[in-house]
Amino acid sequence: MKVSFLGAGAIGSMFAALLKQHAPDLDVLVVVRGAHGEAISHSGEIEIVGPWGNRPVPIAWSFDPADVAGSDFVFVTVKSQATREALQQAGSALGDAVVVSIQNGINDGQYTGFVPLERLVMGMTATNMAVLEPGQVSMQLDGHTMFGPPIGSTSTVAAQKVVDLMGRIQVPGLDFSVHPNILGVRYNKLVINALGYASCLSGSNFITEALCYTPWREGVGRPIVAECRRVLAAGGVEIPRIQGRSDLTKVENLMRVLGTPILGKLVQMAIRGKFERSPIVFSLLQDLRRGKPTEVDHINGQIVRVAAMAGTEAPVNAEIVKITHELEHRSGERLTTREDVIDRIINITKLTSS
Ligand SMILES: NC(=O)c1ccc[n+]([C@@H]2O[C@H](COP(=O)([O-])OP(=O)(O)OC[C@H]3O[C@@H](n4cnc5c(N)ncnc54)[C@H](OP(=O)(O)O)[C@@H]3O)[C@@H](O)[C@H]2O)c1
Repeated sequence: MKVSFLGAGAIGSMFAALLKQHAPDLDVLVVVRGAHGEAISHSGEIEIVGPWGNRPVPIAWSFDPADVAGSDFVFVTVKSQATREALQQAGSALGDAVVVSIQNGINDGQYTGFVPLERLVMGMTATNMAVLEPGQVSMQLDGHTMFGPPIGSTSTVAAQKVVDLMGRIQVPGLDFSVHPNILGVRYNKLVINALGYASCLSGSNFITEALCYTPWREGVGRPIVAECRRVLAAGGVEIPRIQGRSDLTKVENLMRVLGTPILGKLVQMAIRGKFERSPIVFSLLQDLRRGKPTEVDHINGQIVRVAAMAGTEAPVNAEIVKITHELEHRSGERLTTREDVIDRIINITKLTSS
């Protein structure tokens, strides 16, 4: 059986290498590019770093998306904005493969014309992976990865096949399951990202310098989440709870507790050390620092689009998109200050409530 990963960066390389390591009978191919791709092409390996230590995994690689030809499964793990281009490059080589998106953003529509609904599976991973250096990827955080049907389908047949495949990866803390409302699950994660992205604009540690900092939490964090909740309710999106730590309700509860006088201080003291040592790093921050286009149009921008479709507005998320684009177009230092973000969102909130 052939399994390909189209656009193997952090997520694609880690899942591909784990799959090859735990199911050596599979033909696993990574379609790569850039410095990371060059490193893999030279060594013929991906080095994976995690609780298992550092492990080089020999892997088949290609620079040509058309080499996915003959695959039973094609995992698409490019950033959302690169989806259509990657699918176009793979073109007819996608053949009859089950195509699986493991991406942030609600980009089901980008697959239209490339994959029929019954062979398209949408995924959400709560894990966190990073390319440490070209050829080397690290599992920063374990967690659940869920799969389900795309918008327009209710069938979980293809998703179950993906879970059966990925279930061959036997790593404690990594698990794979089917969720019938994967769209709601993806929106749950999207709202957490919309919140996290706002902290990246100033390079602030999401937990200790953003959520734990009252002016940010009250001025930026809570308005973003409240707006997302309002817009998604208006758009008829039901958000299920997610097992594990990456769940919107858990984040909202944390913000609520942090706002209470005595308990809030105690919780801050309890979590500060852990998150100072191991900060949660959103890809938007890495992309801004590297001068690469970010996924903001697919995260906060998605809330703006849902608002427009539901006949309402999302000014707070629109402002986060605007600030991000300003920073993307800056040369040199691409971050702003935490106070600047707070001021701009408070101004927007005042304007829209007056
Ligand atoms: N990393 C995480 O922990 C994590 C967690 C949850 C969800 N996600 C989501 O998963 C998706 C992938 O994230 P990631 O962090 O793995 O991104 P990434 O490290 O940037 O990996 C994407 C890779 O695809 C390559 N690529 C883009 N277009 C291509 C093409 N046409 N052909 C071949 N390769 C192509 C990119 O090359 P270039 O760099 O040259 O563009 C990059 O190497 C995103 O939607 C992200 O939001 C990531």
